[in-house]
Amino acid sequence: MTMAPRKIILDTDPGVDDVLAVLLALASPELDTIAITITFGNTHAPVAYNNLLKIYASLTREVMHDAASLARFPGLGGGKTVLALGADGPVDGEKAVAAYFHGTDGLSNISETHPHFDPPQQLEGEHVHEHLDLSRKHASEVILDQLREHEPGSVTIVALGPSHLTHPLLCALLVSNLALALAADPETFSRVGQVVWMGGALDVPGNTSPTAEFNCFADPYAAHQVLEGVKKGLFRMVMAPLDITTPHTIHFDQLIHTVEEADAASTHGKGKGTGRLTPLREFTSAMLVRVRGLMQSFGLPDEMEMHDPVAVWYAIENAQQDEAAAAERGWKTVPRVFAVERTGELTRGMCVVDRRGTNEEDALRTKSAISSGKNEDHSTTAKVRAGAPEVIVGTPGKKVLETLLLGRVFGA
Ligand code: RIB
Ligand code: CA
Repeated sequence: MTMAPRKIILDTDPGVDDVLAVLLALASPELDTIAITITFGNTHAPVAYNNLLKIYASLTREVMHDAASLARFPGLGGGKTVLALGADGPVDGEKAVAAYFHGTDGLSNISETHPHFDPPQQLEGEHVHEHLDLSRKHASEVILDQLREHEPGSVTIVALGPSHLTHPLLCALLVSNLALALAADPETFSRVGQVVWMGGALDVPGNTSPTAEFNCFADPYAAHQVLEGVKKGLFRMVMAPLDITTPHTIHFDQLIHTVEEADAASTHGKGKGTGRLTPLREFTSAMLVRVRGLMQSFGLPDEMEMHDPVAVWYAIENAQQDEAAAAERGWKTVPRVFAVERTGELTRGMCVVDRRGTNEEDALRTKSAISSGKNEDHSTTAKVRAGAPEVIVGTPGKKVLETLLLGRVFGA
């Protein structure tokens, strides 16, 4: 008996890896993407919003090119996905966008090199896509609306960017769409089934500074607020920090395709197509060429780190909340206790783990006691589980993610 798809709210700052994560979510029958909320991060929020529209425009072109490809994207079926814009900057400190990596437009500047990927000009109030319902509400309000509308515990929020941000008017008071929603109506927010967040770096260096991962660096106040909600036991959070996401790479040869390759494939009878790149491959290949060059210039392997896709993959694999079955496939999480540095000159956004033998070891000891069944002190268990994010430390492996993503998104 197939279970109903898990409802998710995707919170994202497209961003090249966000694009692959959004496409994976839409290509997965286990998920029903009921809303997409946009935050600043890889680029400015309005630009990220337009990038999300480019993803949908590319999907429209893909389906026009090959009607059968619609079957690859169950996330386009069913009801419309609500799209909402979040705010555009951190509560405090300078605004950081990852333009150095993602380009000023967040997608390797394809807005200049490939203007034909731009979404159709949207007239005021017109739907630009038959699968999107453009909300005029702030993202945080849309999050609360969705949580009120659906059964408690039935919605997962998959957060792929800085934990969003402040509503311009509330800038001084609150942070993050998640934290804004949490602060505005904690009772409604606690109806969330769980939050799955790509962010942080616990036992590995940062990627934006020596100590901080980008999503945490871009708005440490928001990360702190959301973590406080977890510590209070308001909701469960699963984290995918750099520790687990960086090793999940896909070689660029699998992600970037050229017209020549497409021609070669069709000429030698290997492919059925006309030799043209499919619109979706053309879109994703175009946005990854610059990223590939950057990775090479950093002296890094010729592979793309699947930070955001790992978070979506977790949501797919745990959609039915059968932890034992997921563990069978290699998924493992442990509770970790840490705090987020908010104002550090050198450590803004750092996940500060207390290894002095109080929190961290207790948390780990309790977790091992749980798994070994020797844990008498259930109250501690509840405290640890309620008080600490569950950090992903094991997955089915990067090749499983590669096969899943390339197969579902590109039909490879
Ligand atoms: O550090 C990786 C994270 O920062 C990813 O979400 C990527 O999209 C960037 O936002
Ligand atoms: Ca992101």
